Amino acid sequence: MIIPASTAQSVATRLAEQLNEELAVPEITRFADGEFKLQLPTAADRAVIVCATTTADAHIELLQLQEVAAREAKEVITVLPYMGYARQDRAFRDGEPVTARAMAKAISTTTDRVLTVSPHEPAIAGLFDVPCAIVDGAPRLAEGLPEGLTDPLFLAPDEGATTLASTVRDAYGSGKTDYFEKHRDRDTGAVSIEPHDTDVADRDVILTDDIIATGSTMARAIEQLNGQAARSIYAGCIHPVLADNAQATLGGAGVTKLFGTDTIERSVSTVSVAPAIATELR
Ligand code: R5P
Repeated sequence: MIIPASTAQSVATRLAEQLNEELAVPEITRFADGEFKLQLPTAADRAVIVCATTTADAHIELLQLQEVAAREAKEVITVLPYMGYARQDRAFRDGEPVTARAMAKAISTTTDRVLTVSPHEPAIAGLFDVPCAIVDGAPRLAEGLPEGLTDPLFLAPDEGATTLASTVRDAYGSGKTDYFEKHRDRDTGAVSIEPHDTDVADRDVILTDDIIATGSTMARAIEQLNGQAARSIYAGCIHPVLADNAQATLGGAGVTKLFGTDTIERSVSTVSVAPAIATELR
């Protein structure tokens, strides 16, 4: 039985198709004060709850779903296509909470195991009190690209994303990889990117990153490529957070195609990670 939270309806539906399992849709209403009231079709050997914890409400909904499932099913598996509140995976400054650990511990109370897709810091899996497996969403990004790209260059906007760029290139089947040098001001969050000397003229360039949040990283990378006569600039990410006006920012910067996976449901989520999750659950 696949149980979709309201933040993960597309990926859960595709997962149910992939696994040929029943999709059990919870009924969600609200109490007069606005709190969620939830009812779940029950009774299954295995309950797979799929929830992108993109908001505080999503965390509440997940804990509610797990609470029912833990009573009714023999095994509860929690799939977090995108794990939110994961940035503070350690106390970077005195007095800061390790928010990711707090969330992981709360989730661990009513599930048997967790799967999450391409977290920025893989070590986050160790914050759960139950086994947590990581599913690599990167190969799926190749599905978002047309066949026959011209001399494709898979470019990471920072050194940390080079493995991801290579993985997408390998899944695509041809092309070269490279990366930009990126600097982010710790206080202001402002991103700067060093000019790049790889010749991109008349090539299709594919920028790949794990997350596009404000879009600053991708926008600075696109700016560097502008004027170098690239044939086209694709920007692909696993988690299209796309906060505020990020999508418009990238459109304005001149991206040819912006795409992401369905770990977060956005209009650009044209690629599904469901086949990769299904492989882990078979
Ligand atoms: C950082 O290392 C990540 O891989 C992404 O590059 C970053 O989260 C993107 O953030 P933004 O879109 O706000 O620049």
